[in-house]
Amino acid sequence: MNILVTGGGGFIGSHLVDLLLLNGHSVRVLDNFSTGSRNNLPSQNERLEILEADIRDPKAVEQSVHEVEAIVHLAAIASVQASVEDPVGTHAVNLVGTVNLLEAARRHGIKRFVFASSAAVYGNAQQLPVTEDTPLAPLTPYAADKLASEYYIDFYRRQHGLQPVVFRFFNIFGPRQDPSSPYSGVISIFMQRAINGQPITVYGDGEQSRDFVFVADLVELLKQASVTTNGSELPMNVGNGQGTDLNQLLKLIGDFSGKELDVEYVARRPGDIKHSQADNCRLRQRMKYESRYPVEVGLQKTYEWYQGQELNSLA
Ligand SMILES: NC(=O)c1ccc[n+]([C@@H]2O[C@H](COP(=O)([O-])OP(=O)(O)OC[C@H]3O[C@@H](n4cnc5c(N)ncnc54)[C@H](O)[C@@H]3O)[C@@H](O)[C@H]2O)c1
Repeated sequence: MNILVTGGGGFIGSHLVDLLLLNGHSVRVLDNFSTGSRNNLPSQNERLEILEADIRDPKAVEQSVHEVEAIVHLAAIASVQASVEDPVGTHAVNLVGTVNLLEAARRHGIKRFVFASSAAVYGNAQQLPVTEDTPLAPLTPYAADKLASEYYIDFYRRQHGLQPVVFRFFNIFGPRQDPSSPYSGVISIFMQRAINGQPITVYGDGEQSRDFVFVADLVELLKQASVTTNGSELPMNVGNGQGTDLNQLLKLIGDFSGKELDVEYVARRPGDIKHSQADNCRLRQRMKYESRYPVEVGLQKTYEWYQGQELNSLA
């Protein structure tokens, strides 16, 4: 199949591109490489086409869907903090970019549309685990744009016969996640600091927990959704239904490194959610989902990758 992956140069997108190519598909990546990188992509693969363009540009988006059979829409400004600081700029990408893509899909008769939404649409949910029926309470521009994107996608489903699959990702981790911002995935930051022998800051008591999914499990699901399903009316949580707290993560990372980590606990950040855990029953009913990488296994693989990066940068 010919599949368009927007944001294909990013952390999640580049793993999906690898998997789709491995499975014999042809892939076009639309990415402006604002946070992603060409280095994440096997540019010598002849079934891969890279279109360096912006989803805010309707003409480029139109060009990107030409002869495509399915779209996986991952391009976004994925930083919640960036959306708080620049709601107008992030909205143009995270919502208007989505609508540009939906319009292009409609004009070209493309039905399959897989979208990366987020557990952020639930805000600070009071009851755990979080089912898809939990009241929606987006607390940031990032979350509001993800939810609005879901509503637009549903409009295109009802009005134009789009066959969408909407996934609400919980915390995804793995190789290539960028640790450079303080708001990046906590695992990438902890690992990089542990490997560099730098102090690690924990906001709060470290008992806050998240539902972590290894990126290889997620991209299997994205592949399945783009290649085999006929769409779904309802969004699906992507989590393992299991919370891991930050102290547990630090213990495991300390074990991998064989060193005592230098951890400093400071005041919790206002607005930080204490626990997050997905109910993934709907996902397991509708898709073939099996977590092949429990958190410890995914963490080990991720640690080895960051360690390799460090060695490369020293070479
Ligand atoms: N990582 C997580 O835990 C997580 C959780 C929930 C949802 N998501 C969503 O998953 C998707 C992928 O996230 P990620 O973690 O791989 O982040 P990422 O920043 O690595 O990937 C986003 C990609 O989109 C590209 N991009 C950004 N703005 C663009 C624009 N205007 N035009 C074209 N390309 C643009 C970036 O260059 C990057 O390659 C995002 O939609 C994100 O909101 C991620």
